[in-house]
Amino acid sequence: MDSWNDSIHFCQWSGVTCSLRHQRVIFLDLTFLKLEGSLAPHIGNLSLLRYFDLSSNYFSGDIPGEIGNLYRLRFFSLTNNSFTGEIPSNISGCMNLRTLGIANNMIVGPIPPSLASLSKLQYIYMYRNHLSGNLPEALGNMSSLVLLSASRNGLSGRLPATMGNLQSLRVMSLGVNQFTGVIPPTFFNISSLRTFEFPSNQLEGVLPQDLGLKLPNLQDLNLANNSFSGPIPTSISNASNLIWLGILGNNFTGRVPSLENLNRLSFVSISFNRLGSRGVDDDLRFVRSINSSKLKLLSIQGNNFGGNLPEAIGNISSKLKKFNFGSNWLSGRVPASLENLHSLEYLNIGDNQFVGGIPANIGNLWQLNKLLLHDNKFTGNVPSSLGNLTMLTHLILAHNYLDGKIPPSLGKCQSLLVLDLTDNLISGNIPLEVLSISSLAIGLYISHNQLSGPLPREISNLNKLTLLDASYNKLSGEIPSSLGECTSLGTLYIRGNSFLGNISSFLSPLTSTENIDLSSNNFSGHIPAFLGKFQFLKYLNLSFNQFEG
Ligand SMILES: *[C@@H]1O[C@H](CO)[C@@H](O)[C@H](O)[C@H]1NC(C)=O
Ligand SMILES: *[C@@H]1O[C@H](CO)[C@@H](O)[C@H](O)[C@H]1NC(C)=O
Ligand SMILES: *[C@@H]1O[C@H](CO)[C@@H](O)[C@H](O)[C@H]1NC(C)=O
Ligand SMILES: *[C@@H]1O[C@H](CO)[C@@H](O)[C@H](O)[C@H]1NC(C)=O
Ligand SMILES: *[C@@H]1O[C@H](CO)[C@@H](O)[C@H](O)[C@H]1NC(C)=O
Ligand SMILES: *[C@@H]1O[C@H](CO)[C@@H](O)[C@H](O)[C@H]1NC(C)=O
Ligand SMILES: *[C@@H]1O[C@H](CO)[C@@H](O)[C@H](O)[C@H]1NC(C)=O
Ligand SMILES: *[C@@H]1O[C@H](CO)[C@@H](O)[C@H](O)[C@H]1NC(C)=O
Ligand SMILES: *[C@@H]1O[C@H](CO)[C@@H](O)[C@H](O)[C@H]1NC(C)=O
Ligand SMILES: *[C@@H]1O[C@H](CO)[C@@H](O)[C@H](O)[C@H]1NC(C)=O
Ligand SMILES: *[C@@H]1O[C@H](CO)[C@@H](O)[C@H](O)[C@H]1NC(C)=O
Ligand SMILES: *[C@@H]1O[C@H](CO)[C@@H](O)[C@H](O)[C@H]1NC(C)=O
Repeated sequence: MDSWNDSIHFCQWSGVTCSLRHQRVIFLDLTFLKLEGSLAPHIGNLSLLRYFDLSSNYFSGDIPGEIGNLYRLRFFSLTNNSFTGEIPSNISGCMNLRTLGIANNMIVGPIPPSLASLSKLQYIYMYRNHLSGNLPEALGNMSSLVLLSASRNGLSGRLPATMGNLQSLRVMSLGVNQFTGVIPPTFFNISSLRTFEFPSNQLEGVLPQDLGLKLPNLQDLNLANNSFSGPIPTSISNASNLIWLGILGNNFTGRVPSLENLNRLSFVSISFNRLGSRGVDDDLRFVRSINSSKLKLLSIQGNNFGGNLPEAIGNISSKLKKFNFGSNWLSGRVPASLENLHSLEYLNIGDNQFVGGIPANIGNLWQLNKLLLHDNKFTGNVPSSLGNLTMLTHLILAHNYLDGKIPPSLGKCQSLLVLDLTDNLISGNIPLEVLSISSLAIGLYISHNQLSGPLPREISNLNKLTLLDASYNKLSGEIPSSLGECTSLGTLYIRGNSFLGNISSFLSPLTSTENIDLSSNNFSGHIPAFLGKFQFLKYLNLSFNQFEG
């Protein structure tokens, strides 16, 4: 603000523009200047002001009611500040206002019904505040309104049917509030709508079957985390501009309609509903119908989808990053064509009924971060090709019928945070290569297998590891004292093996451990007194050993 000094005329100050004729301020643009303090009521004296932008500063205090004197104001934005208090009802004096931005502040109280008298207002940004109360009926009179974004507030009550009159509205974004009841049928008459977002409210009811015909311009439909029920309207396929189909976390039932006409579809998130028939119907027909090379996310987790994964799955979209089919009733073998989805970063088919081997060519999906194949009926080996997935952070193969050895190649997965092989039929030694994955932090889960041999002293490489569960194997010998170097270890479960010897050597440095289960082994000697100093210890089980003294 160096330029704001008396040695030059205020019309030359940066951010200030004056009218040529009167040399009076008409334009004030003061964004991103780290300004703080309050907005003085004197602002109301700038009676020729047409454009006023204070967004992205640190202003606080109330919005002065004098703002209502600025009847020439067309653009007014306080977005990204720390304003408090209510929206002054005097704002209705700004009769020429086109844009009102108060988003991302700490504004409380109701939306004043007087706002609705601003018949030229087109854009209202009020997301991320603490607004409460209902949406005023009078909003239905704002015939110029193009955008209403009031998500992330505390607004409640029923949505006013009068808003169906807003025939210029393109964006209605009212997510993360406490709206109740149904979406008024009149809303489906706003054919100009492109963005229709109501996630995380308490809305209910059935969507009209002709939704896609009545809202032909729809691009973004987000109804996530409500209590909508009934079928997904088949007419959705007529909304051919659709990009986002987000209905997760509702009670939708029945068959998912064809998506074949939706060539721009990028995000499909229909998880956690009651869709599908457990395979009685051809549940995944809609997956085969997808005809959008732009698809990035396909998430159908937590429904009643049954049947086999079609071979055509590999042709869905080379752009697909996230593929989540977890927690359904899918069965049969996993088609090798999955390897064609080479942009995949997240692949979850866990908690289904898949059989057969894990296709080795999954190892070609080199961008994978998370691979979840748990809770199926997979048989055969853990493919050594998984070692090619060097970006993998989560490898979850628990609760299957995998046998053979742990492939040493997994040691190449040097980004792994968690490796979970729990409850399989895996045998052989713990390969040293796996103990070289020093990134392992969340957990190494190898319990309920048939692993044998010792716990190698190289376990000390895992110095970020917070959980080691090697229970219920056939491991034997003494625990190496180097285990004591794993000082991040909060949980150590090695129950149900054949370990022996003295426990002091490896336990004494692990002073911040919370859970220790050494039961059902052959440990001997005295129970060390230093355990009394383990101040975070919540669970300690030493039973069924040979301790004495
Ligand atoms: C006032 O602002 C002008 C323009 O930025 C600058 O050149 C001048 O040095 C400033 N004067 C004082 C006294 O700060
Ligand atoms: C500006 O507004 C304030 C407060 O409304 C008022 O007291 C003051 O007289 C006004 N000044 C001028 C120059 O109009
Ligand atoms: C508000 O802040 C966000 C995040 O910093 C930024 O992306 C956005 O452009 C800002 N909005 C305005 C109107 O300055
Ligand atoms: C708000 O408007 C009312 C009447 O329209 C007026 O009496 C009052 O002074 C205004 N308040 C402010 C703070 O400008
Ligand atoms: C909408 O505007 C009409 C005409 O100006 C008016 O009669 C009516 O009361 C307004 N509705 C609401 C809810 O304010
Ligand atoms: C939708 O608009 C049509 C034509 O204007 C009208 O006849 C119908 O009653 C409206 N439906 C609803 C539910 O508002
Ligand atoms: C829905 O709820 C889940 C779980 O609470 C949350 O992770 C997700 O972000 C929510 N989605 C939307 C779109 O609000
Ligand atoms: C779905 O319906 C069931 C049974 O009517 C109900 O218990 C459950 O709360 C509903 N879930 C949602 C997200 O509305
Ligand atoms: C809606 O889509 C269906 C199925 O794709 C098609 O048969 C029908 O002609 C479409 N209707 C309109 C009005 O475009
Ligand atoms: C897929 O969409 C393209 C247009 O992008 C169209 O030409 C083609 O016929 C569609 N294929 C199918 C099988 O519907
Ligand atoms: C996948 O696409 C390729 C190339 O377009 C085609 O040759 C192949 O038949 C398709 N596979 C399936 C199962 O649809
Ligand atoms: C992938 O893994 C297999 C088996 O470990 C190996 O033979 C192959 O060379 C690897 N491919 C690449 C590209 O690293």
